[in-house]
Formats: sequence, structure tokens, C-alpha cells
Amino acid sequence: MSDKKATLTFSDTGKSVDLDILSGTEGPDTVDITSLYGQAKVFTYDPGFVSTASCDSAITYIDGNAGVLRYRGYPIEQLAAKSTFIEVAYLLVYGELPTAVQLADFKEIITNHTMINDSLLRFFQGFHNNAHPMAMMVGVVGSLSAFYHDSIDISDPRHREISAHRLIAKIPTIAAACYKHNVGEPVIYPKNSLNYTGNLLRMMFATPCEEYEVDPLAERAMDLLFILHADHEQNASTSTVRLAGSSGANPFACIAAGTASLWGPAHGGANEAVLDMLEQIGGVKNIDTYLAKAKDKYDPFRLMGFGHRVYKNYDPRAKIIREVCYQVLEKLADSNNPLFELAMRLEEIASKDEYFLEKKLYPNVDFYSGIIYRALGIPDSMFTVMFAIARTAGWVSHWMEMLDDPRHRIGRPRQLYQGAGKRDYVPLDAR
Ligand code: SDX
Repeated sequence: MSDKKATLTFSDTGKSVDLDILSGTEGPDTVDITSLYGQAKVFTYDPGFVSTASCDSAITYIDGNAGVLRYRGYPIEQLAAKSTFIEVAYLLVYGELPTAVQLADFKEIITNHTMINDSLLRFFQGFHNNAHPMAMMVGVVGSLSAFYHDSIDISDPRHREISAHRLIAKIPTIAAACYKHNVGEPVIYPKNSLNYTGNLLRMMFATPCEEYEVDPLAERAMDLLFILHADHEQNASTSTVRLAGSSGANPFACIAAGTASLWGPAHGGANEAVLDMLEQIGGVKNIDTYLAKAKDKYDPFRLMGFGHRVYKNYDPRAKIIREVCYQVLEKLADSNNPLFELAMRLEEIASKDEYFLEKKLYPNVDFYSGIIYRALGIPDSMFTVMFAIARTAGWVSHWMEMLDDPRHRIGRPRQLYQGAGKRDYVPLDAR
């Protein structure tokens, strides 16, 4: 119960319903409508969840107007500058920054779970070698429950923790195997002496023919990108993981569902779509033509990497990635990379355009990330896979948080029915 209330009054009947106002530690209050249908036999209507909080959470806080993003209270700018992805994964899962011992133990646990069952590798022989890696990811991640059923009793907190560790550890190995299948090279097994992102780079780019040296710049750039992509509150893919998990589905199936949702170009698939768009625009001289298309309601073209449901200010992650982009390209002696130049000009022109200003459309996390991934030699088709690797830390954290809450129930939204009223069956010869 809350001492703050909201009263909903119906103009047709004059009936009023009192609803509790719930306040969090940060952000907007919420009107608790749990009892609304019971009291007034009406539903609320919010198809895109623009004004709807689907859960309580203590993991990530976003202030879209102020451009604020914090994981467990720590500003993303500080984590990007001072932390590592594996430490951020610990923070998201356990809620606190680890001590040196906790971090070392967590690293060892994750490292020792990086191998996948060898039979799982046979799945890849069933895919065409030009299969999109996200298609392979959805299939292979979902199949993990066929191998690791010794820890999928979701009512057992220890099983939930082991599954979370396995997912964080094995997703890069599966991702690298997807890439190797695409390029027709043998799978490279994890190397326990390497860090999380260094291991991924080696599993992707090493061959059995020679030693592979991890480039520390590439390792740090990827680690930073993974920190920035690790979690983002109740976005579409995280909400998918929560909804799938609310039915008691096993963790591997839930993360496969989240991976499928992330693939969409409106969500995690945007990083790949941005590069396609930049190549479609081709050069600065065509920017105005494409901006006009983006503003034309009847033209399906959208400025990929722009706009956000929550950020009505610059996405703080985009700011950090833009700087890293510049540093990586400069170090790779590619600072006049035409795509980066085009991206910066596009951002500059769009940032002065009335339409984008009025609709508060700013670059988001996906606008620059693809340029860095490409500079690191990652093919476009693997960009969303990179996003999925990083976001697995967030997905498993939300999945655990939901199941740790004894109040959790199966998610079962209602609807505003717009279909036909009751009517009788018409026999075929009478139609
Ligand atoms: C991610 O939710 C998260 O947190 C996601 C994410 C995470 O970390 O999990 O941040 C990662 O998904 C980032 C977003 C990546 N997607 C893209 O870059 C694709 C391009 N962006 C758009 O598709 C769109 O901006 C969304 C999907 C990101 C947001 O969609 P909304 O909030 O539903 O907004 P909308 O589609 O209702 O647009 C509002 C208006 C519309 O015009 P009107 O109908 O009001 O006239 O803005 C226009 C849109 O047409 N608009 C755009 C635009 N985005 C919105 N117009 C041109 N180009 C765009 N990119």
C-alpha cells in the first residue's frame, strides 16, 4: 500500500477508482493498476509500452531526457573509463562491484565454462555456410538446454547461477563458431590464459596454421563496446527474456528468445543496418536526399542508428563510442575512414535539421559501433552477434532478478479486442 494515490474517475458513470502511486529510488512514479480490472472491469491500453513499467528492477537506470545510464548506480561513463566487461558482468549479476578475490574467482568460473560440448559443434554442419550468424545463434543457444539440463531447475538459485555463468561463458564460443562456419575455417577452442574479449578475438581470427597474437587495442575497444552494450533496462530483447522466463522456460530457451528479438533492425540489428545505410548513401553529397527520405512518412527509409524510445537526448553510449571510434581509426591509420567521415557529417547535418530536433532523434548506441567493429575486422553480419554476447550479461541478470522475486507471476497481457462480434458458422455451400 502507498500513501500516495491517484484517482481515476469515469465520465460516463461518475465512478472513481483509487490507485496506489509507487515510487522508486530514481525516475518517474508509477500508478499501480494491478487492481484496476478487479475494481473497474477496464484494462489500460499501451501497445508499445510507452508509459508502462513491466516490473520492478534494481539493475539499470536510464534518464532519457538527461542522457543518463547507470548500471547498479554506477554511471556508464565511469564504468567505460575504469572497468572491464567481465567486472561489469559481475556487477550486473550480483549488484555490487567485486573485490579482487571475487573478481578473480568470477573470471576463473567464466573461463572454465567457455568450452561447449563437442556434439554441439555438429549443429553447424547442418547450416548453409552463408547462414546469417544470428540465425545460427538463435538455434544453437536454444539447443544448450539439450546439453546442460543438469542445471535448469529454475526454482534452484544455484542452478540459476550456474546457468547464468554458462551462458556468459559459452555465448562467445558459439558466436566465434558461427563466424568460423561462415568463413569455412575450423573452430578455434577457447584459450584459458586469455581475457574474455581477447579469447573471443582469438576464437574468431586465429587459425591452426599459426600463433595468433591478440591486439591489445582491439581487445580494449571490444571490451569497451561490450561494457556499453551489456544492459539497458527493459528494452525489447530483455523484456522478451523476462516474458519467456515468467512461464518457467529454461534459461537457454529464454536467452535464445532474447537473441531472436535483438536481431530486429529496430533493435540490435540496427548496427548492421547503419553500415548498409551509410553505403547506400554513398557520400556526403547524397545526405540531403536521404534525410528527405527519412522525413517522408510514405517512405519506409529511416535513418538507422538514430532515435530511441527512451533517449530524447544524445545516447550517452553513442558519445563514448564516437570518441573510441575516432581513437581506433586513428590508431589503425584509418582516421580518414570514408564511412566514419560520412557518419560524422550525417550526424552534424541531422543535428541541425528541424525534423530531427523536433522529434528528438539523436544518434544511438548503434550509430557508430558498426564502424568500430568493421575496423576490427568483424564482418557486418556479426555486429548483432557482438551485441548479443554483451547483452547476455544483462539478460541473465534480469532473468535472475525476476526469478529471485517471490512475487513474480507469468506475464500475460490482455488486449483491446477489435475483431468480429459473435456470429454463427456458415456451411461451405452457403458461403
Ligand atoms: C537499440 O530500447 C532500448 O533500450 C534499445 C537499445 C538497447 O540498448 O537495448 O538502446 C538498443 O535498439 C537502439 C535503437 C536502434 N534502432 C535504430 O537505430 C533503428 C532506427 N530507429 C527507429 O526505428 C526508432 O527511432 C526506434 C525504434 C529506435 C524508436 O522507435 P519509437 O520510440 O517507437 O519511435 P517511433 O517509431 O514512434 O518514432 C517517433 C517519430 C515517428 O514520426 P511520427 O510518426 O511521429 O511522425 O519519429 C520518427 C518516426 O517516423 N522516427 C524516425 C526515426 N526514428 C523515429 N524518423 C526517421 N529516422 C528514424 N531513425
